Amino acid sequence: MTTKKIAVLAGDGIGPEIVAQALRVVDALELDVTTEEALVGGAAYDAYGHPLPPETLALAKVADAVLFGAVGDWKYDKLERRLRPEQAILGLRKELGLFANLRPAICYPELTAASSLKPELVAGLDILIIRELTGDIYFGQPRGRRAAPDGAFAGADEAFDTMRYTRPEIERIAHVAFRAARGRNKRLTSVDKANVLETFQFWKDVVTEVHAEYPDVTLDHLYVDNAAMQLVRAPKSFDVIVTGNMFGDILSDEAAMLTGSIGMLPSASLDSSGKGLYEPSHGSAPDIAGRDVANPLATILSLAMLLRYSLDHADAANRVEAAVREVLASGHRTADIAGSGERAIGTRTMGDAVVAALGRTTGIT
Ligand code: IPM
Ligand code: MN
Repeated sequence: MTTKKIAVLAGDGIGPEIVAQALRVVDALELDVTTEEALVGGAAYDAYGHPLPPETLALAKVADAVLFGAVGDWKYDKLERRLRPEQAILGLRKELGLFANLRPAICYPELTAASSLKPELVAGLDILIIRELTGDIYFGQPRGRRAAPDGAFAGADEAFDTMRYTRPEIERIAHVAFRAARGRNKRLTSVDKANVLETFQFWKDVVTEVHAEYPDVTLDHLYVDNAAMQLVRAPKSFDVIVTGNMFGDILSDEAAMLTGSIGMLPSASLDSSGKGLYEPSHGSAPDIAGRDVANPLATILSLAMLLRYSLDHADAANRVEAAVREVLASGHRTADIAGSGERAIGTRTMGDAVVAALGRTTGIT
């Protein structure tokens, strides 16, 4: 068996601190895996003048999987768009063909009280949002700014983006979603805005066609505004949600908060071959960077997804997830998940606890 390589792109803000804890977990697992780090985002801009330098992209391409921290800091807000840190993650998604973004929202029993919703609404919550990641208004052309030539707003500047999806793009994400639903409770909700947008009437039509190949899965359709409402009204009514890039961006943040803390949620962005980029669902949180307070668990759980989906190490993934459950059960809390009166521990101490718990788990759950 050849040694697998993980490209480690820690990025900005809290990225380096939380990724450091995930790397300690990699070491503790003693797998036949190598890691190689490279700069990305603002950190890469500072060093090379570009948020996604060719060296970093090349490493991501040769590696079997990418472990990503977070990018972004207010200090880069004034840069032209192509140089901003966020372009690094968008570029990686596009260049690596990572079209399928899996964002599970699981409410751990120990954290039910941390949700802003009533405990009975979220206790036992386990939903999976599948977000299309390389199309939609994020990448559609044309986009830009121009001075409007004539009409009611003659002479006024305008800006525009293009929402578009092709049939193959919708088909492939629909297949990922139906297969995921098949492995869970066999219910898929496709979220669109077919009542207004042609792009999403097409989305709905194509998802409905693909459904014919999965008769064992129940499919329903919701408009995105209604889906946003149902997510806070009755979140447990969902199993798997599939939607486009922009709606998925918004709904996955909403779903994350149902679980109490976005600091707990991992994500996987996959291509069609099993290669993937794994990152916490949260951002770079520059306001708390370098203070040893960030929650490393979303990154550690992203590592578990990486081991399962891209490195074929399901046992190791189970061990990591069991260790995280154990540290939560034994009362370890970073500030974001600590209830009132509960003592909060730091990033590194949380890492210590997971590494120690790993020593006690076997992967048999
Ligand atoms: C996310 C983020 C990104 C997105 C940004 C940083 C470009 O919000 O991964 O959800 O909008 O996709
Ligand atoms: Mn987002």
